[in-house]
Amino acid sequence: MEMIEFEHPVARDFVTRLRRKDAPPVRFRAYANRLAYLLAVEATRDLCTVPAQVDTPLETTLGEVLIDPPVLVPILRAGLGILEAFQDLLPDSQVAFIGMSRNETTAEPIWHYSSIPDVAGKKVIILDPMLATGGTAAAVIEYLFEKKASEIILVSVVASPEGIARLGKYENLTVITVCVDRELDSNWFIRPGLGDFGDRLYSDGI
Ligand code: URA
Repeated sequence: MEMIEFEHPVARDFVTRLRRKDAPPVRFRAYANRLAYLLAVEATRDLCTVPAQVDTPLETTLGEVLIDPPVLVPILRAGLGILEAFQDLLPDSQVAFIGMSRNETTAEPIWHYSSIPDVAGKKVIILDPMLATGGTAAAVIEYLFEKKASEIILVSVVASPEGIARLGKYENLTVITVCVDRELDSNWFIRPGLGDFGDRLYSDGI
């Protein structure tokens, strides 16, 4: 596994805005969306292009177009908060959906729903803003590699040291995050963290 701590002052500023407990869902969604554009730029850095002829108003020249757009896999619910920016930058990407929750006693992932296109030989970008225990991420990563995905990038906003350690064994996996926080607490929340990302997006926030 390769780990990238995304070093960008604007990204760190937006994570601080997301952390503020008085940011209501409407603001939280806006900050998450803007931060997601920065993360999408980082996550797409190594995509391939091919030369393509283009007619400008003045002459014909050679440009480049993306080939093999990655499949986007937002993990419900929180992943939806950063999906739109990735779709804006990758309009030809297919989107796969996976709905997971975690057993609040054991923290093990519970698989509720999936709708996934053929990922064999494809690059996949998983959108999972809070990498906490890594249990959900590991289950999704294993599923996608079983389906023969060639390479996986997991995009998060905040990650715990425990979650990063749990994913360390996977090859062809890159984890991108803005902040590695201190620890998980006894309820598997990331500290200092920002609370429950899904609740912050869609509920009353705390
Ligand atoms: N998921 C969240 O949304 N927040 C956490 O702190 C941990 C998991």
